[in-house]
Amino acid sequence: MSHLKLLQHLRATLQILVAISLLSSYAKIEARQSLSEVEDLELERQLKLLNKPAIKTIKGRYGDIYDCVDFYEQPAFDHPLLKNHYFHPEMKPTLPNLVRDDTSSDINRPFNIRLKGGGCPTGTVPIRRTTKDDLIRQGFLSQIRGADDLSPDGDDIKFSITDGTNATRFRGYVRYAIVRIPENSTNKIAGAGAILSVHNPQNLSDHQFSAGYIKVQNDNDSIQAGWIVNPHDYGDAHTRMYTYFKSGKTACFNIRCPGFVQINTGVALDGQLTPSTYGGPVQELPLYIARDTSSGDWWLLVESNNIKVGFWPSKLFANLGGFATGAEYGGVVHSSRGVPEPSMGSGYFPSGDLKKDAYLRNSTYLNENNQAKSLNDIFAELYATSPSLYRVYQYPDSKPENGALVIYGGPGEHM
Ligand SMILES: *[C@@H]1O[C@H](CO)[C@@H](O)[C@H](O)[C@H]1NC(C)=O
Ligand SMILES: *[C@@H]1O[C@H](CO)[C@@H](O)[C@H](O)[C@H]1NC(C)=O
Ligand SMILES: *[C@@H]1O[C@H](CO)[C@@H](O)[C@H](O)[C@H]1NC(C)=O
Ligand SMILES: *[C@@H]1O[C@H](CO)[C@@H](O)[C@H](O)[C@H]1NC(C)=O
Ligand SMILES: *[C@@H]1O[C@H](CO)[C@@H](O)[C@H](O)[C@H]1NC(C)=O
Repeated sequence: MSHLKLLQHLRATLQILVAISLLSSYAKIEARQSLSEVEDLELERQLKLLNKPAIKTIKGRYGDIYDCVDFYEQPAFDHPLLKNHYFHPEMKPTLPNLVRDDTSSDINRPFNIRLKGGGCPTGTVPIRRTTKDDLIRQGFLSQIRGADDLSPDGDDIKFSITDGTNATRFRGYVRYAIVRIPENSTNKIAGAGAILSVHNPQNLSDHQFSAGYIKVQNDNDSIQAGWIVNPHDYGDAHTRMYTYFKSGKTACFNIRCPGFVQINTGVALDGQLTPSTYGGPVQELPLYIARDTSSGDWWLLVESNNIKVGFWPSKLFANLGGFATGAEYGGVVHSSRGVPEPSMGSGYFPSGDLKKDAYLRNSTYLNENNQAKSLNDIFAELYATSPSLYRVYQYPDSKPENGALVIYGGPGEHM
């Protein structure tokens, strides 16, 4: 085939793919309209299981409803391994001393991640309410119909954003631009943290997400936290905090599968974030994932004074029951095929200007003695799966207040 012919052929193939994806989203709308009575009942039943009784409800800025659920009724305790637990709402972890200095200028810290009106009453925790539309978007209908193929991309049952080296299991793909401490059984990592700039990558389509994150990992177990734009799960393009954990074969966002024990009454896992504006002002979110030095539970800490959101009990994990052996800092996108690749970070390639770039500064890890060490002090490597679309750099010699600096991002196919 000549080059021209090949191009024409490719273009025709692309047009067909776009047509198919349009058709399948049309099929989804159709499906929505023709819910059978049985399906409707099944959705209602599922919602009753997921949404625990609320003592109070709080409306979020983006329209999400947060239910204040009794601490002991929260979804985590549906996990078979957490049936007989000693957790209680006033738990205090034993954590390393994580000093955070936030004297950097030019930075906005509205920390508007908190729920309005002081959050939930003592003894209850905020849990985002799942709606019927959420379940439909997330592919629940295709599960009850036994026809997985209805969903053009994977839902997160068979889809994991953590398996960097093998995206073939997913319908669609995952792209990374990260700095990583490669997994090595000689590593004993007790936590990872950074101050992340928060963004709102534009032009995401329904079956895509784009995120900035940190992660700790040991073999098939991992925990990550960051910010995300995720139209597939939320039906909108706002920026929220997110977590994702994987334990053996189980993996999910936030609390879509039981595991995470929420402690905080005012900060929910999918808390709403104000994104940075390109050129400034910049908005930041400090995050830490840190291992309790006595129980081994993994805690999520946010903001500059390390507010405790909650934890993943160590008994959920075979491998992360001990130390982590690897960590990651950077950006990730997911997309189904046949649509332009989404943008990552600020939507531009890194330029070295922190008013424009997506970054993680003060990137640190905890060593086996629970000392916070700079990411510059351990062997770490750049890992970009599509460098023509998304790039990443590590700056070992940035200003002291920025510590180890990772900058990442790119326009995807929205050049
Ligand atoms: C990726 O997954 C495929 C299908 O399960 C498997 O055959 C292949 O060996 C895997 N590759 C890697 C690098 O793990
Ligand atoms: C793991 O780390 C040790 C000690 O730093 C190093 O000697 C070894 O080459 C590493 N192994 C791999 C597979 O990278
Ligand atoms: C995860 O790793 C542990 C320890 O290596 C192993 O026992 C377990 O079978 C693995 N689970 C899965 C789902 O691969
Ligand atoms: C983290 O940032 C503070 C100042 O904000 C700095 O003093 C400290 O050295 C940094 N630590 C690391 C490990 O990067
Ligand atoms: C991306 O979205 C913006 C804002 O909606 C729009 O102005 C722009 O044309 C879009 N760009 C591409 C390449 O789709």
